[in-house]
Order: sequence, then C-alpha cells, then structure tokens
Amino acid sequence: MKILLVGNGGREHAIAWKLLKDDPSVELFCAPGNAGTAAIARNLQIDASDIPALLAWARENAPDFTVVGPEAPLCAGLVDAFEAAGFPTFGPVRAAARMEGSKAFAKEIMAAAQVPTAEAVVVRDEAAAREAVARLGVPVVLKADGLAAGKGVMVCMDAAQVEAALRDLFSENKFGAAASEVLVEQYLDGEEASILAFVDGKTVVPLASAQDHKRLLDGDKGPNTGGMGAYSPAPAVTPDMLAVVQSQILRPVVEELSRRGIAYKGVLYAGLMLTKSGPKVLEFNCRFGDPETQAILPRLASPLLPALRACRDGVLDASLVSWDPRPAVCVVMVSGGYPGKYPKGVVVEGLDEAAAQPDAVVFHAGTARRGGLVVTDGGRVFGVTALGADVRSAVAAAYRTVVKIKFDGASYRSDIAWRAL
Ligand code: AMP
Ligand code: GLY
Repeated sequence: MKILLVGNGGREHAIAWKLLKDDPSVELFCAPGNAGTAAIARNLQIDASDIPALLAWARENAPDFTVVGPEAPLCAGLVDAFEAAGFPTFGPVRAAARMEGSKAFAKEIMAAAQVPTAEAVVVRDEAAAREAVARLGVPVVLKADGLAAGKGVMVCMDAAQVEAALRDLFSENKFGAAASEVLVEQYLDGEEASILAFVDGKTVVPLASAQDHKRLLDGDKGPNTGGMGAYSPAPAVTPDMLAVVQSQILRPVVEELSRRGIAYKGVLYAGLMLTKSGPKVLEFNCRFGDPETQAILPRLASPLLPALRACRDGVLDASLVSWDPRPAVCVVMVSGGYPGKYPKGVVVEGLDEAAAQPDAVVFHAGTARRGGLVVTDGGRVFGVTALGADVRSAVAAAYRTVVKIKFDGASYRSDIAWRAL
C-alpha cells in the first residue's frame, strides 16, 4: 500500500504516525513533511500547494491513496485534480472546501440549512462595515471572507479595536483578496469547542470532541496563535450536545451542499461557541484541525485508513470508528517570538530522552533536518501528546516530556487543558 500525505505540520506527523502504527508495511510519502515524518516515512521536496508537481509525482509513482492535510491545496482543487487523473484522494473537492475558503459561502449554506450561527452582514467597503457595526453593536467580530492563515478574524471588544480592524481590512488592505468581502458578525459569548466529523457525501460520523487553546499565554491571554495546545475529549461537549450538533449542524450542512450538487467528503470541522441558547457555529474548516488532530488521533482505537477510504468511497459507517476512553493532552512548543517574528534553524536537543517517556509521543511541526541534527523551521515546533488514566495524569505525562526537549527561545503554555481539570 503506497500512500501520499500532503502537508508538513504537526497534524500531518500525527496522521503519518497513526497510519504507520496501524500498518507498519505502508509505504508512506510526505510532501513535503518535516523532521518527524522524515524519521518514519519518505519526505518529498514538493510544496503542499504545488498541485502540478504533486500530480506529476503521482503519475510517476502511482500512489494507492492520497491524504491531504492543509486547507490551501483543498481550496485550490487538489482533490479535483487527483480524482480526475484517477488517484483516489481523501478530502473535499474545491466546491466543498469553500465551507472554509469563503466565510460568506459558509454563512449562505448555514442560512439555507437553518443552522444556528452568529448573525452576520457581508460587506465590501468600509462605509457598509461601519453601518453593520453600528447595527450589531460592540463587541463585534470582523472577518476576512477568504483564507488568511488563521489571522483574518478580529474580535473587537471596544471602539478602538474596531478602528484597528477596519484599518487592517480596508485602508491598509492587509489581507488582500481574502478581504474583498468582509463579514461583520455578532459577538457570541460562551465556551468554545470543536467537533470534527468524517463525512462521505451523506453519512456523518463525529470524531472524539476536542478543544484547542488559541491564545499564546496562560489563562487564555495574549495574542491569537495557530494553537498552543489541545485536549480530547472536551468535557463541555456532552453526548446530548453532540446529538444536537449532529442533527442541527453537521447533517443539515452536508444535505444542503448535496442539494446543490456538492458531495462533501473528508473531515468537516465545526468550530462552535457553546452559548446559553445552545451551540452556534463560529466557523467551518474543511480538514483535520491542528493541533486538535494531535490530541484526537492517539485516541482513535480503530485503524485510520479504512475510515479515510470509506469517506472517499461513499461507504462510511459508524462501526469503522472507535475510541480509547483515556483522555489525551497535547502541549505545543513554539519558537521565541512566535506568533511574531522568530528565528529558524535553532538546534533542538533532548528528543531521545523525550521519546523514552512512557505514554507520550512527540509530534514534529516546524522542524527540519540539517546534517544529523533536528532544527526549528517554523513558529510551532512540536506538539507533545500524552494519554492518561485521567486528564491530570495526561497533563503530567505531557509536561514531563516537554521539559526534556530543549532549544533556544522555546516556550509553551503551562496550563493546557485547565478547563478540563
Ligand atoms: P474562527 O477562525 O472563525 O474560529 O475565529 C477565531 C476565534 O475568534 C474563535 O476561536 C473565537 O475565539 C473567536 N470568534 C470568532 N467568531 C466569534 C464570534 N462571533 N463571537 C465571539 N468570538 C468569536
Ligand atoms: N485549531 C484550529 C484549526 O485547525 O483551524
């Protein structure tokens, strides 16, 4: 079995790790991968968004199956191109990936499917944005419509923050084409949770719940990041709530897309605010979450590949997915300066000691190999995941491992999973 895995983050290392744990005989290729995937699979020097080069590699090497991690190649039509060329591939086609690629499109689908979400107005210029802010009141949330590498959402708690967001979106045009449309959205209060589900075009099978920590500093303070850690399950997501999310959010969305001739296949990720009046959608992603995946996949007791193939083949069934009841906690280690400017190429030490820790696994994110060394190559460098009999012991095992890993400027939050404790 020859598999091509597209992407280079912690999520992709976790997917690679799980595929090989299930079946060590898999021949796995990562494009481009990182130092973590290099240790267990073959890295290819092809960028995750270079669809022509990926297709050329596939034509030469005939992968049996391809798995796509990040949103950019999904939104650019990687799955459409691979399937048209006869390569079975996990992930939504471009039209379905618009659930993440265009927040205005996602709102349109949610409105048609009567899915609970924050009220929002789509605007194209600053004057219309000001009008919408005046109507919705402050606090308010401004969002660039398109992909903005996780930076296009501005939660404005006061008038000064509204002005700063309007400047970024309009006069300074910081987000380029991604902000040719802007959503002005009602602010929602509550606890956040993520529900990810496998989808095969019609059947929806939720994965274990998870929650990430988006803020840089302890106590959920400081700037937003790509994610400083995650834990699974998220206790705020009760079985009753999960049933509501499935029947009122995930299934209606998949059905509405299907009515429009779009078969959603892959992972559908609903970012939710658990409000007093029930769960409401903040955003959809068209892929596995990062770092949620690093907390979810170590809990997946059933093999991953059969579920991925069933999504692609339209034969998904809940019996394909079963869970280890133990909770998992993932602590992300970042480069000094992240999410602002940070150095690359910093030598990492202690990975062998970390690997020797029981119940923990070190997922690489922004790492590369230089000579015989592992060096930093991104803002988020590692995701250290541990399973435990309870959340407290999972947290302890994760941090016991984190402290073994050393590189200049390394930092991490010390309170991952605090809400679950
Ligand atoms: P998103 O990328 O849409 O998930 O937004 C990033 C973060 O912004 C979310 O995780 C929330 O913390 C926050 N956010 C987004 N939309 C809203 C909203 N309508 N009300 C309050 N917070 C929000
Ligand atoms: N952790 C949030 C995301 O993957 O978008």
